[in-house]
Amino acid sequence: MKAVAQATDGARMGTTGSRRRLVLAAAVIGIAAAVGGAGCALFQSEQVAKGKHLYEHYCMHCHGEHGQQNEGYNWNQMPDPKPKDLSNKSEMSTFKDEEIFNTVSRDMKDTTPEIGDKIGDDDFAVPTMPTFKYTLSEEEIWAIVAYVRTLHGMQLTYNVEGRKKELTDQLQGAQQRFDQAKQTFDAAEKKASDEAEKSGKDVDDAATAKEQEAMGAAAKELEAAKTAVANFTARPKFAAVPRPDMTMAADVAAKQAEVGKRLYSNKYGCNACHRVGEEGGVVGPALDRAGFRLNGTWVVRWIKYPQSMKPETRMPNLGISDPDAKAIAMYLGTLQAPKPEKPIEKPAS
Ligand code: HEC
Ligand code: HEC
Repeated sequence: MKAVAQATDGARMGTTGSRRRLVLAAAVIGIAAAVGGAGCALFQSEQVAKGKHLYEHYCMHCHGEHGQQNEGYNWNQMPDPKPKDLSNKSEMSTFKDEEIFNTVSRDMKDTTPEIGDKIGDDDFAVPTMPTFKYTLSEEEIWAIVAYVRTLHGMQLTYNVEGRKKELTDQLQGAQQRFDQAKQTFDAAEKKASDEAEKSGKDVDDAATAKEQEAMGAAAKELEAAKTAVANFTARPKFAAVPRPDMTMAADVAAKQAEVGKRLYSNKYGCNACHRVGEEGGVVGPALDRAGFRLNGTWVVRWIKYPQSMKPETRMPNLGISDPDAKAIAMYLGTLQAPKPEKPIEKPAS
């Protein structure tokens, strides 16, 4: 799509040979489509198998083995809306592959009316459906989408290999632009220092400022392109969470706990997997007594980056901001239910 748009732009500029470029671009796209289309059945079945494996680990407790209602052990423990029936072809076929991808890979939104985030019409914002954007690679999420398609008798048609190629091409382009910008800067700098030597004055930094700025911009673009390629093929990695400072005045702490309580259910849907009292899911342990059992510093570090402590945990990294994590930890600190008479049964996992 993008290539077409660029090619047409070129044509519109009316440069000679632009028509030939347009035809060439179309030919390249044609070849890519042919290769992608042939994108052999073997690749597709491998992708679906990989997706199945991931689905069983990250989705099945809520959506069920076959994607059906009340099939997953967490399904009827959850607040409304219940996890969607992924086996329902008449409904699921109305979603494009990209839409399913975006549901599984998105940023969580505060759904509190009035004070929450502005939510656009087409944005999926159900807090109790977690995001996996910060847990899995894009390639893994596409594999999951491919598997989800089979649950309602369809096939993924999105060209995943094409997307990968697009990203690696972008990286190559960004690398070239950076190398060029660096050469230009080096040349400008040499010229400035030659002139300084001739005139016996100090090197004029202002003379190379523009080239330096351009090099800085190209370096940023290169960094972004590298991250995009890395996140496509590998799970996202983050710096270790620094030890948060949890000291605050009692009234501030109380306010924070209130905010945290709101975010807990309206933004991050922690209640989808954790029970407090009689309410909430059973994928993770009950948090009624979190105030006794867990310390705030540890909670912040765990919820911000569970995979750094337990790489294969079913609890996803929800992309929680620092202030949100702190507020939620303050809320958990207030959960001090008395010891249960009978130990609560651990859910099967
Ligand atoms: C904690 C429970 C839970 C987990 C885990 C979970 N989901 Fe969901 N899912 C939900 C809920 C709740 C909804 C919202 C249903 C609704 O809005 O009707 C939902 C909705 C969806 C939808 C429909 C989106 C739409 O636009 O209506 C898809 C597709 C989906 N989930 C896929 C997945 C996949 C794939 C995974 C695993 C990577 C997953 N879910 C993990 C609870 C869960
Ligand atoms: C998709 C389900 C899921 C969601 C959503 C989820 N968790 Fe968890 N959580 C788990 C699981 C599973 C564990 C157990 C960790 C393990 O051993 O892998 C866990 C563990 C924890 C623990 C450690 C509990 C203990 O007793 O050791 C805390 C605290 C916690 N989660 C808080 C949260 C908070 C706060 C949120 C929302 C920001 C949240 N979780 C969202 C599944 C989830």
